[in-house]
Amino acid sequence: MGAADDLLAQVRVQGAIPRHVAIIMDGNGRWARERRLPRPIGHRHGMKSVREVVEASIAAGVEVLSLFAFSQENWQRPAGEVSALMSLLEEYIQKEARELDEQGVRVVFLGDLDRLPAAQRGAVDRVMALTAHNTKLVLNLFISYGSRAELVRAARLIAEDVAAGRLAPDQVDEAALASRLFTVGCPDPDLLIRTSGEMRISNFLLWQLAYTELHISPVLWPDFGRAELYEAILDYQSRERRFGRVTA
Ligand code: IPE
Ligand code: IPE
Ligand code: MG
Repeated sequence: MGAADDLLAQVRVQGAIPRHVAIIMDGNGRWARERRLPRPIGHRHGMKSVREVVEASIAAGVEVLSLFAFSQENWQRPAGEVSALMSLLEEYIQKEARELDEQGVRVVFLGDLDRLPAAQRGAVDRVMALTAHNTKLVLNLFISYGSRAELVRAARLIAEDVAAGRLAPDQVDEAALASRLFTVGCPDPDLLIRTSGEMRISNFLLWQLAYTELHISPVLWPDFGRAELYEAILDYQSRERRFGRVTA
């Protein structure tokens, strides 16, 4: 048994498995810079980490894994880096779609997908359709995503329904808003991991993270793997979640 297997055994003994784990995958650029490599090489190595956390999540019994892959703000990076990331997205889908399907993973892309180039948009739509029937793990991949934009969109959808007489103003409640977010149907994240030591949310899931436990890992994303995921879950299992109440 390797170190990661030992940690998984501990996770199983120690307590409840988080149903929904969300990760802000950060530090690819710094990983490359430390090696005097171009930033896209860091992104490429990050794909291996995606593979590992998907497998590790299935092994642990996590139901939903949400990965922040490309933010709305990331469109403002240099054109060369954006196009390298877009190529990697297509390559990831081409390489992994079949295996994800065999593993029982339902792949869902969330964000402003209309901004994707045609080839990427086609690949995204194909893998979502291919895996739509799977039930082992929901893999939410956030691309061209910003949480404020998601909330504005939900507000606009509500306004349209009210204007059309389909919804009364006093029916606008938390459930009405949540049901108009991209994450409709998913439980809120139990655990949010951010890699590379950064202590901020960067416009990710502002509504959904209201009571999520936070784990900041110093490890850069390309070095993050099974063992690091299980360490984060062990940390989560040591927390006391109170949701504003007092402990019995
Ligand atoms: C995360 O790594 C990947 C994306 C945001 C697309 P970064 O590219 O942000 O890496 P750092 O933060 O510059 O090290
Ligand atoms: C957040 O990372 C977005 C993703 C991981 C996709 P960034 O590297 O873009 O965030 P900031 O700029 O450090 O806040
Ligand atoms: Mg970053």
